[in-house]
Amino acid sequence: MGTAELQMSPEEMRACARRVVELLVERTETLGDGPPWDGEFQQGLAEQFHKMPPEEGREATEVIEQVAREILPLAARLDHPRFFGFVPVSPTWPSVLADFMAAAWTVNQCTWLTASGPSQIELTVIDWIRQWLGCPDGAGGLFVSGASEAAVHALVAAREAVGAPAGPVVYMSDQTHGSIARAATTVGVRPEHVRSLPSDSEYRLDVELLARRVAADRAAGLVPIAVCANAGTASTGTVDPLAELADYCAAEGIWLHVDAAYGGFAVVTETGRRQLGGIGRADSVSLDAHKWFFQPYEAGCLIVKDVRTLERPFTLRHDVIQDTIWGSNHPNVADRGLQLSRAARSLKLWMSVQTFGMAAFRRAVLSGLELARRAEEQIQSDPILELLHPASLSIVCFRVNPGGLDEDTLKTLNAHVLAKVFWDGHSFISSTTLRQTFALRLCIVNRATTSADVRETLDRVAQIGRDWVQNYGRATK
Ligand SMILES: Cc1ncc(COP(=O)(O)O)c(C=O)c1O
Repeated sequence: MGTAELQMSPEEMRACARRVVELLVERTETLGDGPPWDGEFQQGLAEQFHKMPPEEGREATEVIEQVAREILPLAARLDHPRFFGFVPVSPTWPSVLADFMAAAWTVNQCTWLTASGPSQIELTVIDWIRQWLGCPDGAGGLFVSGASEAAVHALVAAREAVGAPAGPVVYMSDQTHGSIARAATTVGVRPEHVRSLPSDSEYRLDVELLARRVAADRAAGLVPIAVCANAGTASTGTVDPLAELADYCAAEGIWLHVDAAYGGFAVVTETGRRQLGGIGRADSVSLDAHKWFFQPYEAGCLIVKDVRTLERPFTLRHDVIQDTIWGSNHPNVADRGLQLSRAARSLKLWMSVQTFGMAAFRRAVLSGLELARRAEEQIQSDPILELLHPASLSIVCFRVNPGGLDEDTLKTLNAHVLAKVFWDGHSFISSTTLRQTFALRLCIVNRATTSADVRETLDRVAQIGRDWVQNYGRATK
């Protein structure tokens, strides 16, 4: 029977798409003029939107306008040049168009048969990343939603590589992102066997402590299956001693996974490569191109030293896809991970690099490193600001500290500063806790952020601190 009811005419398709592009370009041109965040309480939004789906449709352009005016703006503007909270992202236009094209082309990037062109692009882009990291020939991987999913895949590979033992244990520092412990329990590690080891004075995984813990666990009959190291912690940007850990893990026969979700793409620069020395020796590395490589969500990727360690646990055989087995020269990327039907995620990275070239990407990554260094200098030269952790990769931690206040008052003061920055709407910063200390934190990975954006943000933070001190002083007189 069929129906043409869900089909638009070519004119309608063009008109809708043109309107979307106009709205997006307008947003890009004015983004920095407005606040970096907007949001609403749930009650109002539920009243507005929580309704049954309409039986009859309405004008497509009307729906587009509503999405652009009433829904999408109620969100953090993670690509705003003064958004420094969490880990921002600033996708390039070609990478956004790549997602649009791949969706409209209806590509299912699971097998060579269903998507040979996009499969080749995924193999190629994964190989670029392999080379940037310095991983050996034979390493390979795939694109996934993000580093959380990548860690699950890596730990499945690690577990299976040692025969899925009973009593598996996974090790990491107490600075490791929560998604890694979650990945460990997802693959069957008991929560009490996820070892979160106290980090050293520089927030790094302490290799001696690790060695002692591994020895004790082995003596107790448990089986270490992986050490998870950081190439840029989310709190401070700290990089664990990757080369030393690679030596230790190789000697002990333990899988080394590196969570490079935030920091990994720094390897495209000379400075970053130095800071991440040894990363290419890991058994697996996860990276998020939707963080410091200017791609839209979801652009996570996983590289493993030996791609067969992924293919063994994940290869899928089913009668209904038997025609897709073309052999080793035509790999089915779906055999490397959990997803069968999957989007052509690598296309965005390929298209944006083809358009701008690696030199431009390298400069954009370098800019984050350089701006973080300048932020550190400004913090050190302003008497009311205290540096709590120096720039590591592109993250700096600090607080307002006028001197003479106890820790509780300092926490109150800095929570006040954070809230004031938030409601001012000039910039967006977030906080973290370093040991027991409440810290303000800048993460600078936006390709459009200027030194003025960083300077003005820190000036405002300092001014809010001074105003607070003046009022606090008055209140206590
Ligand atoms: C260091 C680090 N690891 C892991 C993750 C989890 O990544 P995703 O949100 O892409 O799953 C994040 C997210 O911000 C992160 O910063």
